[in-house]
Amino acid sequence: MLSNKRILVGITGGIAAYKSAEIVRSLRHEGAEVRVIMTKAAKEFISPLTLQALSGNRVHSELINADAEAGMGHIELAKWADIVLIAPATANFIADMTCGKADSLLGSVNLATNAHILIAPAMNQAMWKSAANQTNISHLERRGVQLIGPEEGPQACGDFGVGRMAQNTEIVKSVSEQFKVQTLRSKKVVITAGPTREAIDPVRYITNRSSGKMGYAMAEAAIDAGAHVTLISGPVAISSPERCYVINVETAHEMYKASLTACVGADVFIGAAAVADYRCETVSSKKIKRTADTITLNFKKNVDILTEIRRANKNLYLVGFAAETENIKENGYEKLRSKKLNAIVTNDVARADVGFDSDENEVYWMTQRSVTHINKKLKEKIARDLIANIANEIIAIS
Ligand SMILES: Cc1cc2nc3c(=O)[nH]c(=O)nc-3n(C[C@H](O)[C@H](O)[C@H](O)COP(=O)(O)O)c2cc1C
Repeated sequence: MLSNKRILVGITGGIAAYKSAEIVRSLRHEGAEVRVIMTKAAKEFISPLTLQALSGNRVHSELINADAEAGMGHIELAKWADIVLIAPATANFIADMTCGKADSLLGSVNLATNAHILIAPAMNQAMWKSAANQTNISHLERRGVQLIGPEEGPQACGDFGVGRMAQNTEIVKSVSEQFKVQTLRSKKVVITAGPTREAIDPVRYITNRSSGKMGYAMAEAAIDAGAHVTLISGPVAISSPERCYVINVETAHEMYKASLTACVGADVFIGAAAVADYRCETVSSKKIKRTADTITLNFKKNVDILTEIRRANKNLYLVGFAAETENIKENGYEKLRSKKLNAIVTNDVARADVGFDSDENEVYWMTQRSVTHINKKLKEKIARDLIANIANEIIAIS
């Protein structure tokens, strides 16, 4: 699977460093050419000689060393790699990466490389949970660094929790997956999903039946296609995909603000959320009492997120979702035109077997030039088809 691929394995100074030997062996077994960089601390945990024997190459470690630079210098190593895998990645090295520190060979190579970087963090559960580490991790993910693990389980120190390095097989699989054909590789994709909630008073709100399943499936499919995904989600009861940056919002206005910010520098925006068209004109600051026989709520129009995103981003590839109960194609086409979308996905939410809260969907993919019917199937499969369509369209435009 990894034939002729060049994998640069960074090993940092954690107890899981002994497992790196097995990872290097497996990568070689899959046909990869492997070079190893060890931090100073890593060499306290496992001998460079072991890694040299297993990788078939001298281990790199020193940054300021004339002999090492004369061999394969840090910039050369950075250019050599198709993928950089850091396993284990210590809390310390994660912090260094976040700041862009270059006082070690591995730090310098990370900064200089254009290769995709994967890290397999491994540390004590309290260190993993710490605010500083979590902030660092989210910064790195936003930058496109891909996380593998960590896992939950018993730890070398006797604790139990999240922080164990992912299984070697999972790490090697994640590396292999990088070489699948990734149609949205390195594209920045922003996706909205789920419903929004508009408050009536402190305890009540208006919402809709969106489960978020379609938008979340779109996020998964885009991640698999190699995109860096920001998922802006309304309140849902499903778990977030891994390897993407999630922003949780409640109201349509919050979703609009988060979308506008996330779209800076983005390539694709997919509006799969069921955004409330209206919100209460006034939100009661106190719970409305059950005294009057009837009450009247006045609503005012919410901002149209897709229209505003188009206004602010002329070149963004913009995909809308339209939940319709009648004249599906006609209404879809009207939205496509009026909101200046590149494409729209329409579905019939009047049907009980597809659409809202269902695991399946049946949709039309509509562009200015064509309409394609996608047969009823699992939302994950529909999402894969839609992401493939988006990738094809982007290639056709560029
Ligand atoms: C016995 C021992 C085990 C350690 N295990 C870990 C670990 O699993 N994860 C971690 O983040 N740090 C661990 N540390 C702390 C790191 O070794 C320390 O932060 C070091 O500076 C890391 O250097 P590096 O990131 O440059 O490799 C351990 C330290 C000791 C003494």
